[in-house]
Amino acid sequence: MKLWSRPLMVAVTALAAVSLFGVAVVDRAAAQATQATPPANATAGTAFKNVTTASLKELTVADFLGSMGVMAAALGYDCADCHPGAGSDKVDWVIDTEKKKTARKMVDMVTGINKNYFAGVQNVTCFTCHHGRDMPATTIALDKLYGSPNDEHNDIVIPGQGEPSVDQIFDKYIAALGGAQKLNGLTSWVATGASIGYGGLGGGGSFQIFAKAPDSRAVIIEFKDHPERGDSTRVYNGKVGWVKSPRGLLSEYEQTGNELEGARLDALLSFPGRIKSALNNWRVGNPDDVNGHDCEVVQGRGPKGLLATLYFDRQTSLLVRAVRYSLSPIGRVPTQLDYDDYRVVEGIKFPFKYTFSWLDGKDAFQINDVKVNVPIEAAKFNKPAGK
Ligand code: HEC
Ligand code: HEC
Repeated sequence: MKLWSRPLMVAVTALAAVSLFGVAVVDRAAAQATQATPPANATAGTAFKNVTTASLKELTVADFLGSMGVMAAALGYDCADCHPGAGSDKVDWVIDTEKKKTARKMVDMVTGINKNYFAGVQNVTCFTCHHGRDMPATTIALDKLYGSPNDEHNDIVIPGQGEPSVDQIFDKYIAALGGAQKLNGLTSWVATGASIGYGGLGGGGSFQIFAKAPDSRAVIIEFKDHPERGDSTRVYNGKVGWVKSPRGLLSEYEQTGNELEGARLDALLSFPGRIKSALNNWRVGNPDDVNGHDCEVVQGRGPKGLLATLYFDRQTSLLVRAVRYSLSPIGRVPTQLDYDDYRVVEGIKFPFKYTFSWLDGKDAFQINDVKVNVPIEAAKFNKPAGK
């Protein structure tokens, strides 16, 4: 599975006949007009026709789709490996294939192992055994044994010895960005630039980020030269979040459950002066290398099992990466934000290169303009308008 293959598959699916929530859809125009968006509080067990495992059926629809991403990534699969025809107009999400039946058993197995052997702590996930393969390897390859050391990470950061305190790391970050006074005076910003895509896909768009203190954020990607690709939007307005993703299985939905906490964190991190209150239970781990930067590692926790790890360059004190994890019954759902090319705008440093990676895709942006403390119409943070 190549990184970009799955989103593309889902992309095609969205344009094809999709029968979700009992609404049959025949073409793209109809898909835009009639595809039912599930009620925000619907559980996967009620919104879908054939979701039966005890742990997955209680999830919100958004979190259920997140766990589908976890399954696919853990096994190195596309949606189509378990759902025949995903990516074509013949897709049948409901039918039970052998792979689906096995996967259901594995969901129950994973829950059982954690319950019976790890006191309910989620130590075992699909990835624990599968590591991106459908048949887990059972014997170490000798080249691995004598090769480069394993560079996989624990999700949970182990407290480091002799490291600076959380406050020291944040204070240096705030100072490096322009100082507390400047950051406290930051009430809104608007960034515009070009989507530079990833792996040859997703480039050629233009994008805008709107951020309003304390916790509203909207990211809008438009493909003016290819209107058929549709606009993508992610919005969080301090309470409610929406995703409009023409390439996704649900072209538009309200973010719910654990996914909503992640959207809130992205919004809070847009105002670094208040970084300390974005999460709680902060801890500092041992330094780590990220994209060639020697980094301090800080981890915090939020509501609903949200976990986030922040990496600060030890030389510049700037944030180079934030990885947030939301909980799912079969493993955490990771989302990664990478920041680069910091430049000063009215006394405050902003990252002019920004990459957003999640289980179903990766967007890279080159910002070419940031405007600070400009008024933003409230409507920018509303539910994106449908077609
Ligand atoms: C390893 C196999 C596997 C992969 C890969 C997989 N799924 Fe699933 N999918 C399942 C299983 C199993 C269920 C039923 C879960 C249950 O019963 O709790 C399911 C159910 C669904 C349903 C509900 C269908 C209905 O109406 O009952 C949808 C929608 C869905 N998956 C979408 C996706 C998408 C989108 C992807 C790719 C990101 C994906 N799946 C990848 C195994 C898989
Ligand atoms: C404790 C280790 C372990 C965990 C955890 C685990 N699996 Fe598996 N899985 C296996 C093994 C071993 C096989 C191969 C079984 C065989 O050969 O019959 C397998 C096979 C499968 C297959 C069939 C692959 C094929 O090619 O036919 C699917 C699908 C699958 N697992 C899905 C999952 C999902 C989804 C999860 C997480 C909910 C999961 N597994 C968690 C060990 C695990």
